[in-house]
Formats: sequence, C-alpha cells, structure tokens
Amino acid sequence: MRFIIFGAGALGSLFGALLSMHHDVLLVGRKKHMEVIKEKGLKIEGITEGVFYLETEWDGSEYDIVILTTKAYDTEKAAREILKKFGKMPVLSLQNGLRNEEMLAEIIGNEYVIGGVTSHGATFLEYGRIYHAGIGETIIGEIDGKITDRIKNIAEAFNKCGIETKISRNIKNEIWRKAVVNAAINGLTALLKCKNGFLLENRNAEILLEKICRECIKVARAEGIEIGEKIIDKTKEIAEKTADNISSMLQDLLKGKKTEIEEINGEFVRIARRHGMEAYINEFLTLAIKAMESVRHLG
Ligand code: PAF
Repeated sequence: MRFIIFGAGALGSLFGALLSMHHDVLLVGRKKHMEVIKEKGLKIEGITEGVFYLETEWDGSEYDIVILTTKAYDTEKAAREILKKFGKMPVLSLQNGLRNEEMLAEIIGNEYVIGGVTSHGATFLEYGRIYHAGIGETIIGEIDGKITDRIKNIAEAFNKCGIETKISRNIKNEIWRKAVVNAAINGLTALLKCKNGFLLENRNAEILLEKICRECIKVARAEGIEIGEKIIDKTKEIAEKTADNISSMLQDLLKGKKTEIEEINGEFVRIARRHGMEAYINEFLTLAIKAMESVRHLG
C-alpha cells in the first residue's frame, strides 16, 4: 500500500519507518526533520533499530491513505491542508484526544474518516532521530463499525510490518478507552515530570492514576460510553509496557511546547459539565499543566 504520514513527529515517524519495510511511505512533517531525513535517513533507536530511507517530497503520485499523527489541537488545520494538497482521500487518525474524527468528518467528509488508537511509545530525540520506547497494540476501525475491505487492507499492511493491529467494530469505545489511559498517564507524568514507569513505582502516584481513571469512567458513562473498571489495569499495563517512555505530554512540556491537556483532560471536564457533573481531578490537571506551560521556575 501507499501511505502518507501527515504530522510525522515521534510517533508518525516511527510508523512511517516500520511501514516502509513493505510499503511506499511519504512523510510530511516539520521542515528541519524532513531535511535531515532526506539527507541522512531516519534513525530509529530502542525497540526498533535502524536507518530508514523515506520519501519526504511529494512527486504528485497517488497514495492510498493518510495516517494523521499531528497533535490534536492541530487536527482542523491538518484536515484543511490534506484536503487542499491531496484532495479527498481516506484519513486514519492515530492521534490522542476525543474529537479528531468529528473534526476530520466535518472537513473531509464522513466516509473518508477512519478511527484508530495506538499505544506505541516514541520519543523525539532530535531532527532525524527517534527513540522507540514502548510497544503496544494498535486498533483501527470504521466509524460505523463495518468491516470494509479498506480496513482489512490497512490492518494487514500494518501487521505485515510488525505493527500488531486489530480491527474494532466499536472504534469510538476504543478511542474513549485510549483517552482515559492518556488522561491518567500523560496528565500525571507531565505533572510529576517522570517517566511512565514511575506511576507504578510510587504508591501515591498509582493512587492518583486510579482516581483519574475512575473519574473518566463516570464521565464516559454519562455520555453513554461503557467503560468498565478494567481500564485501570489496562492503564497500568500500558504504563508498564512503556515504562521507559517520556509521555508525549511531558515531551511537549519539557520542550516548552503547548501540550494536549485541553484535548484530553480538558475534554473530560467539558463533557462532564454538559451532563451537570464536575470532573475535579481532570480540571485540576488541566489547570495545573496549562500553568506549567508558561511558568518560570525560581532558582
Ligand atoms: O501519548 C503518549 O505518550 C502515549 O499515548 C502513551 C501510550 C501514553 C505512551 O507514553
């Protein structure tokens, strides 16, 4: 298959490299990152090791699908750019957050949107250099739950390259489950400035993780999304499997970049309010991380 990775940061670059083992891949990302890849190849370290040579300039030829890996706050802008540059074509979102599919559907059209989640952990080391810190499963699905040929083809293409992928008939539920995991792991690791694994090493951090998950479960239920308490164990399992990873939110914070706190924890707060509830822990995390985005530390 022929894939465009749009928004090739840490995760997108990792997927591009893995997919390039058996497929054609065009990476679209930040200029400097693309320049280094064009010149020296993309270096992956950690679980995956190697230098991968990928296309970084579009020659006008046709591609089958776009894999969108931009930050959730850039989805709308990315959707407009994809539409303008490549026209209407299938877009698979592998982003964090709850509203990506909805925004893509509004701009590109319902029938082109495919949902997905992945818990691979990747860290951006420097331009042209990525660290693969954790392996996790990838789940994809059509928004209407149908098992179409395109979804089967994508899953097959991913699996062929060692990206363990399952098809879901209820991708919305998977996206919510992933958002709970992100609300707990990303929000907390950003606050504590620690690697994912620390959340299981320290009992106080672990209690916080459990409380965030429980609050998110309540919000999900109010929205009609059934997520059981098992998500707490799942979150811990992902923290364990990506123990060595610096979560994407902490990476952003350390680089002085805007985080996805509004699109993850902030979204739980807004949905809770729509249902006449409060999500205090998520609200605390949202406000604290937003303050940390601009704080100047003493000393
Ligand atoms: O955003 C992230 O960092 C990742 O989704 C995950 C799975 C929490 C690993 O760090």
